[in-house]
Amino acid sequence: SYLFSTIAEKISAFEKKHPEKQIIKLGIGDVTMPLPQACIKAFHRGVDEMAEEATFRGYGPEQGYGFLRERIAETGFIQQGADIHADEIFISDGAKCDTGNLQELFDTNITVAIPDPVYPVYLDTNIMAGRSGELKDQRYERIVYLDATQENGFVPKLPDTKVDLIYLCFPNNPTGATITTEELKKWVDYAMDNKALIIYDAAYEAFIQDKDLPRSIYEIEGAQKVAIESRSFSKTAGFTGTRCAYTVVPKACMAYDHAGNTHSLHDMWKRRQSTKFNGVSYPVQMAAAAACSDEGRQEIQGLVSYYLKNAEIIRSQMQSLGLECTGGENSPYIWVASDMDSWGFFDLLLEKAGVVTTPGVGFGKCGQGYIRISAFNHREKVMDAISRIKKALA
Ligand code: MLT
Repeated sequence: SYLFSTIAEKISAFEKKHPEKQIIKLGIGDVTMPLPQACIKAFHRGVDEMAEEATFRGYGPEQGYGFLRERIAETGFIQQGADIHADEIFISDGAKCDTGNLQELFDTNITVAIPDPVYPVYLDTNIMAGRSGELKDQRYERIVYLDATQENGFVPKLPDTKVDLIYLCFPNNPTGATITTEELKKWVDYAMDNKALIIYDAAYEAFIQDKDLPRSIYEIEGAQKVAIESRSFSKTAGFTGTRCAYTVVPKACMAYDHAGNTHSLHDMWKRRQSTKFNGVSYPVQMAAAAACSDEGRQEIQGLVSYYLKNAEIIRSQMQSLGLECTGGENSPYIWVASDMDSWGFFDLLLEKAGVVTTPGVGFGKCGQGYIRISAFNHREKVMDAISRIKKALA
């Protein structure tokens, strides 16, 4: 089953068996801080407009309201030097849905390259679509795996063979690793040379603190022709329950058919979305637009700093136990190495400390031996979890 469903079932079984135990969840990356005030105010305004005949709105544009698309283009891309226009931005209800649905545009015979470990949605949706082949030794025979290991700093090297579709996720979920501009350029060049397409999941870009690191793949020259980028309001403005995200499909981005003819991915994605999706609710888009205002962005910076402080605490405390850690500096996830099997470590922390983490192997074979700790929780809960973990491992 889906990794986070399996974990949710385990937690619920544990809670049933030990109703007296208070568990602390540092597993799924679910935010705990309320929506920024700017978003709440706009959300209310949106609801009030729906209550009046004069301002009521029915179906909205499937691609999202212009006011939101324009704000995103301006504040998320143009101000950072990336040449992305409002009509290249598709508003959706989640980066999970977008990164999961994009593969639908392609033939089942294409070759797909997927990092290992990585957010399980990319692999799972390609398996469901019939692109994976058989499972042998924890690997699907038709998938090209891009191993991310301690040795390569959790940034995979380019595939040895030609692939058609590449998934990349930076800051990475689950390892928290980041990619430099030089490294990312190699992927863009590879895609251009091989007529490949990159799906770049930048759901965690707001956590990048290091000014030298790229926040968008469109900071790389030529990327508009070979890359689609997904981002989300979930982890920044706290929209995991509110639901709003977006995917950039530049007009210059092309897919190739068997005969080598080009097709506009923008047109294909527009066709797909307008057929299968009816857009995000008006009040939610109002709230999302407020997240892009000066006030909203300032509040988001506060939220990001809060979670990053949690990450710093988790990372330094895990390191003080002699455990090797990656991530947590430009990412809300800390990737912790152990000498145990991932699920064994997960079970130990759940049973002895009452702390939920995510077993690394759930993100791929290369994640074996690791657990991922999420920094999304209240500070007191994080501090409590740390002291419980220390006691459990003593
Ligand atoms: C995660 O914990 O990896 C994410 O929260 C899952 C998601 O965003 O769907």
